[in-house]
Amino acid sequence: MEYMRFFRDTIMARQSCRKFLNKEIGIEEMVEVNRVYDNLERLVPEIKTDIKFTGAEAGKKFGDSVGYNGFSIEAPQYIILMSEVKDFYLENAGYLAQAMTLKLTDLGIAACWLTVNDSDRVKEAADLDSKLEVACVIGIGYRDKDTKEKRLDIVSPSNVTMTKTELQAAPKISLDSLLFDKIYGKAFNKEELYTELEDSLLAVSHAQSFFNRQPYRVIVGDSEIYLVGVPDEMTGENDRHLNYGIAMFNFVAVLGSLRAEAPKWSFDTPTVNLGLPDGVCYVAKCRI
Ligand SMILES: Cc1cc2nc3c(=O)[nH]c(=O)nc-3n(C[C@H](O)[C@H](O)[C@H](O)COP(=O)(O)O)c2cc1C
Repeated sequence: MEYMRFFRDTIMARQSCRKFLNKEIGIEEMVEVNRVYDNLERLVPEIKTDIKFTGAEAGKKFGDSVGYNGFSIEAPQYIILMSEVKDFYLENAGYLAQAMTLKLTDLGIAACWLTVNDSDRVKEAADLDSKLEVACVIGIGYRDKDTKEKRLDIVSPSNVTMTKTELQAAPKISLDSLLFDKIYGKAFNKEELYTELEDSLLAVSHAQSFFNRQPYRVIVGDSEIYLVGVPDEMTGENDRHLNYGIAMFNFVAVLGSLRAEAPKWSFDTPTVNLGLPDGVCYVAKCRI
């Protein structure tokens, strides 16, 4: 995990970019990002994935195959992550792509995730002959700091406290709203957190998500934490699972950089009763 250390500040600092300079990233940076792709321990190691960097030309052909309501973002380059379709493939892809996104942030390169609306058309636009499905498309490049970015109207979820983040990044769910104590719905007393765990959970609360909806919560148990999904009428099925992978990576990146051994998520059924109400689903657990 050496190449993934010190991600806490990166997680707090990163924010999506929707206005890029017309300049490609260098070969050395691409090599660094590829190194993360090659070396990162997967959530589900047996799932085959592939990665492709494409240029602005492919992006011009995306049309409405990616982006909110069919609006893509113009970027000088894109990362396209493809995957075999198997159980948890989107969590696995989101996890992997988040590691690359944070590496990019560390390198001073901005990014914006794009919702995949049509895998086949993305492959066609990028001239990809692959049987794998397009799981993630991420526009990457240098932020155009001089031009005002297009405002993104984000609808905050109701009944949730959002906290302001550094810079102009979108507000994020507060730890008070994110965390529950042993069973769903029971308020968690933050005083019980030790620094390492608080930092790692803070990283989960700062994870980016489709339309910044963050439709998940974390139940803190005695020796494990449990990620659970909450209903959200705006988030589609694929983005929901990518969201989970992103949140899971943020947790591992921080806790893993503070400990000799990185924690591991498991999709196995929990052995304790989490008291989940109808509509709330268990996602995964991680030993703390
Ligand atoms: C799965 C996923 C899909 C996304 N799709 C889009 C998209 O199509 N267009 C867009 O502008 N941003 C997209 N985003 C970026 C989110 O809007 C952004 O991460 C969120 O609003 C939080 O803002 P921040 O990234 O600045 O913290 C997506 C993010 C995720 C995780």
